[in-house]
Amino acid sequence: MARIAEEDGITTIVSTPHFRPNDENTDLVAIHERIYAGVEMLNHELKERGIAVEVLNGAEIAMSEKLPELADRDLLPTLGDGKHILVELPIATWAAYAEQVLFELQVRGYTPVIAHFERLASAPVREIKPEDLVARGMKIQVNCESLQGKRGRDVAKLATRLLKQGLVHALGSDAHDPVDAPPLLTPCRRAVERAGGRGTFERLTGASAAEIVGRG
Ligand SMILES: [Fe+2]
Repeated sequence: MARIAEEDGITTIVSTPHFRPNDENTDLVAIHERIYAGVEMLNHELKERGIAVEVLNGAEIAMSEKLPELADRDLLPTLGDGKHILVELPIATWAAYAEQVLFELQVRGYTPVIAHFERLASAPVREIKPEDLVARGMKIQVNCESLQGKRGRDVAKLATRLLKQGLVHALGSDAHDPVDAPPLLTPCRRAVERAGGRGTFERLTGASAAEIVGRG
């Protein structure tokens, strides 16, 4: 997968394994440790093999009422070295506490980046307005596959609208494996530029992403 990414022109990957505080029998301390140790091991391996890709720590943190407390215990994996965290809002149910939790995370110095916001297009209730989140200092991430129509028309439409309104701060490959979900971004370059205007792809994969991982 790293070789595929390298071929695509990707130099840095933020690894975002699921981090689900509400799952029962989950040892979050162990998972937190495993994420950081795993990324270190992987980078060592990539260097050994001469693959010019660096992997940064991160996680896709599921929305939970426990997040502020976990933040206080320093257990939320950040995206790279900064204070941005990738937060996934529930799609199937409306979490009434979500906005309060996001606010409490901001109070603690974190900048929530909402994971694949466009997928909320298929949510039964959509109470959170993306423009409000951004106005309050949060960021929005969109998946490439959504722009390519792989998650249906409504999702593609919302992704396009977010880009048009300038509400997107980062792109995700949603890479899971080398065949069905490879780590590629250039396949959605055209769709990104068409919706967001020229230079959008460059900005989202460059300066905007660098700022999120604390290298801006
Ligand atoms: Fe997700």
